[in-house]
Amino acid sequence: MITRLFPRTTRFSPSGEQAKRRFSPLTWAARIALLLCIAMPASVAPAADAPVQVTLDASKPGAVIDRNIFGQFAEHLGSGIYGGIWVGRDSTIPNTRGIRNDVVAALKALKVPNVRWPGGCFADQYNWRRGIGPERKPAVGEPNTFGTDEFMDFAQQIGTDAYISVNLGSGTAQEAAEWLEYMTAPPDDALGAERAKNGHPAPYKVAILGLGNESWDCGGAMSADFYVNEMKRFSHFVNNYNSAQRMKRVAVGPSGTAPTYTDAVMAAWKGRSYSWGIEGLSLHFYATGGWPPHLPSAGFDEKDYAALLKDAIGMDDMIKTQSAIMDKYDPEKKVALVVDEWGAWLAPTPGSNASSLTQQNSQRDAVLAALSINVFARHADRVRMANIAQMINVLQAMILTDKGKMVLTPTYHVFHMYVPFQDATFVPLTFDAGTYTTNGITLPRVDVIAARDKAGKIWIAVTNIDPKSPATFGVSLAGVKAKRASGQTLSAPKVDSVNTFDAPNIVAPKALAAKVASGKLTITVAPASVTVLGLE
Ligand code: AHR
Repeated sequence: MITRLFPRTTRFSPSGEQAKRRFSPLTWAARIALLLCIAMPASVAPAADAPVQVTLDASKPGAVIDRNIFGQFAEHLGSGIYGGIWVGRDSTIPNTRGIRNDVVAALKALKVPNVRWPGGCFADQYNWRRGIGPERKPAVGEPNTFGTDEFMDFAQQIGTDAYISVNLGSGTAQEAAEWLEYMTAPPDDALGAERAKNGHPAPYKVAILGLGNESWDCGGAMSADFYVNEMKRFSHFVNNYNSAQRMKRVAVGPSGTAPTYTDAVMAAWKGRSYSWGIEGLSLHFYATGGWPPHLPSAGFDEKDYAALLKDAIGMDDMIKTQSAIMDKYDPEKKVALVVDEWGAWLAPTPGSNASSLTQQNSQRDAVLAALSINVFARHADRVRMANIAQMINVLQAMILTDKGKMVLTPTYHVFHMYVPFQDATFVPLTFDAGTYTTNGITLPRVDVIAARDKAGKIWIAVTNIDPKSPATFGVSLAGVKAKRASGQTLSAPKVDSVNTFDAPNIVAPKALAAKVASGKLTITVAPASVTVLGLE
């Protein structure tokens, strides 16, 4: 139930300063450099079809890519919960205690590390008491038949951690404290006993606690200082009583690119007392290609393909900017940057209810997902959690459902292919791929990351952004013993190819293997594709 969506844009016009610099006279050094570039173009920019030379440096491992960056977000919005997860115990759709079996089976394969629930903007108007016990109390547009016990059942069925966003906007600290007590206290506590009466004697585990959502807008339009005071009270009073689970707390972070919230929250954190704390700061970043969302999710052209990916790649700058502010107060990076809403936000599927935020999911979204995960992996020392928006039927979903039918999206396949990167250690590499330009939009031609899993196996993910040309990669594996590589590649007939209920495998991963010769792995991948290979 969204009443207002904030005008979020990831594109920036050049500032006055930048514009001024653009017309500054060139220095002599710059003129000479320019002349050299004109005289020797081949030496500075690889030809568009030249093999991409990648050099791995396995001797200098980076940070661990926290499995939590592969988290999901499930909000009471559109058919994300009702229809997508919950069909009710009496449904003819196969279910376990009302939760659809097909969706659970598909999500189990993703090894989803955590699910953020119940919102989003919805969280700041959620009354948890209406969603427990035998008598559910509906709100406008919300039947409350899927409440705390159903969410915890769902989390347990798919094998994930619960990330609970408490209502800091319209609710009180006491209500939130009692919700946590209901979920985590032993059954001899009054609220633990109520949970036991509702059929769940054992305390639940709450791994992550969200202290509000977008409090600068839909979460209460609070000034940063006002939010910090509220957040401190919630952090202090909302306790987890289940000692089997150390809970991390996530405060609200920046509105767009503004530094205000990040500065205020991090300054407060630096000067904190024993009584409160946070372990994460939230960042929301959607790729839209311009606000309000208008790019179609299917049936689009190469210009729209590039425009959306350009926005998505902007995640890197966004993280750098906010991390730099956090570094001022927390150079040891104790507080994680938690990108707990990200993904493509596109025009609603024609004919759908616009407020349900239903959109198709194409090969472009698969490329976008890979590029975004790669950004998180490169910032793994600070970005230790992320939640794609949203898991089912809403925005950039893993799964689409329609009554008894279910289809896996191209984004689902990327998350599945990237499972080996969960908790793997980042392996630095270098490559110079050149650029791909269309309709005045320039993007890198390819992207590559690598990581070493806990068993010592090296995994490489290569994305070919160029939608017109295949890309050949020559990966030098100095210091790595390997004879071959094998894995999966995800490509599609067109960048706007989608899976539908009638044709669910238009975009599906295919096996790919290659030999390693003289310490070098050579592979060629399709245009606009994502490939993940493990070295053997
Ligand atoms: O994901 C949809 C909405 O986007 C969320 O409810 C809100 O937090 C954000 O504005």
